[in-house]
Amino acid sequence: MFAPEVFAARRAEYMRRLGPDAVAIVRSLPERLRNGDAYHRFRQISDLYYLTGFAEPDATLVLRPGAETEQVVMFVRPRDPEMETWDGRRAGLEGATARYGADVAYPASELGDKLAGLITNRDELHHALGLDDELDHLVTSAIARLRRTERRGKRPPRAVIDPRFTLHELRLRKSPEELTAMRKACAITADAHVAAMKLGRPGTFEYEVEALIDYTFRARGGNGPGYATIVGAGENATILHYIENTCAIAPGDLVLVDAGCEYGYYTADITRTWPASGAFTPAQRRVYDLVLAVQQAAIEMVAPGTTLDAIHQACVRRLTEGMVELGLLTGAVDDLVRDQSFKKFYMHGTSHWLGLDVHDAGAYTDRGTPRPLEPGMVVTIEPGLYIAADAPDVPVELRGIGVRIEDDILVTASGYENLTAACPKEPDAIEALCRA
Ligand code: GLY
Ligand code: MN
Ligand code: MN
Repeated sequence: MFAPEVFAARRAEYMRRLGPDAVAIVRSLPERLRNGDAYHRFRQISDLYYLTGFAEPDATLVLRPGAETEQVVMFVRPRDPEMETWDGRRAGLEGATARYGADVAYPASELGDKLAGLITNRDELHHALGLDDELDHLVTSAIARLRRTERRGKRPPRAVIDPRFTLHELRLRKSPEELTAMRKACAITADAHVAAMKLGRPGTFEYEVEALIDYTFRARGGNGPGYATIVGAGENATILHYIENTCAIAPGDLVLVDAGCEYGYYTADITRTWPASGAFTPAQRRVYDLVLAVQQAAIEMVAPGTTLDAIHQACVRRLTEGMVELGLLTGAVDDLVRDQSFKKFYMHGTSHWLGLDVHDAGAYTDRGTPRPLEPGMVVTIEPGLYIAADAPDVPVELRGIGVRIEDDILVTASGYENLTAACPKEPDAIEALCRA
């Protein structure tokens, strides 16, 4: 975890941007039952982690820049020896102030009572509506209560603002310490993909490959996968979010692995596609070469001032040209792009922000216009081609082939840095690993 000063500096910058008349509320999401009385492992919501480093459930941060007292307020679970014996250690109220930088801490159960007082007479309330019904209800109740006291000088905020306009702008530009965590996540992930290529022979089950990848993440000090690991062999590679990972790899299969280690709360996001028996068939190789060429050209476009939309449009055009050459589509490329025929074989976007979340926070457009890239942003570049096993009117040797190649790219002042360059993707290199 970063030093407390890192989180303090983030809060200070966020409060500076909020201005002296705003208030912001950031709360953990409720713990989720998995079955019976067993819960999913808790993972702090990224906004709250970003501002505090506090990883416990049932925690709320209220920031009140410009307030005379209680600028940084936390509501947390109090110490409770009996509960801690069952569920683990708690920082408690003392820990929230001593270790997590709160000016004052209250028991989590007092949030409802105290919220109206904390937001009184503030102009803007920064709160992510629609994430957590219980918090939405607490907020609207506090606002309703303040409406009744308005004539006595205690009025509710004038506006409720989505955190993406301020907080998520901070998360979008990565600081040096964030990049250190992301480089580590990327290095572990690259090694896990190489290990997967060496393991995944015909006869190996997809879940064995998944197990080795997730083991590598955890054994190297990561929190585990930043999203559910995808291991799709053969036609399973054409299912974008295939996470069952139940099938045996067959001779001649391509295996698509999309997996990223979360390290220090930051995740990598790499996809590689490789021939399980150590050699591409000519048809697989044609598809692979197309996707790789498109991906490399897209990475070369990454630089300050470019937009993700421009990169996506370039990928769509080159992939569509390739689809015509492969015999997947017929017609003029301009028409096939315009009428979105390419979506039959390339149905997802090319990029997303990457950071604490795999699909990280941050606006993609400014009033509908794609925003220019800036140094410090981290994006994925992940074109692919997916030809369903039952796709009609396509060359039979192409059916059931799915290829995606995904790297994590830091925008730098002069262009880009590929944070996942250590993960092989040249066909000769991956064939050699698959034969190793
Ligand atoms: N692994 C999710 C994605 O590539 O967007
Ligand atoms: Mn991705
Ligand atoms: Mn991915």
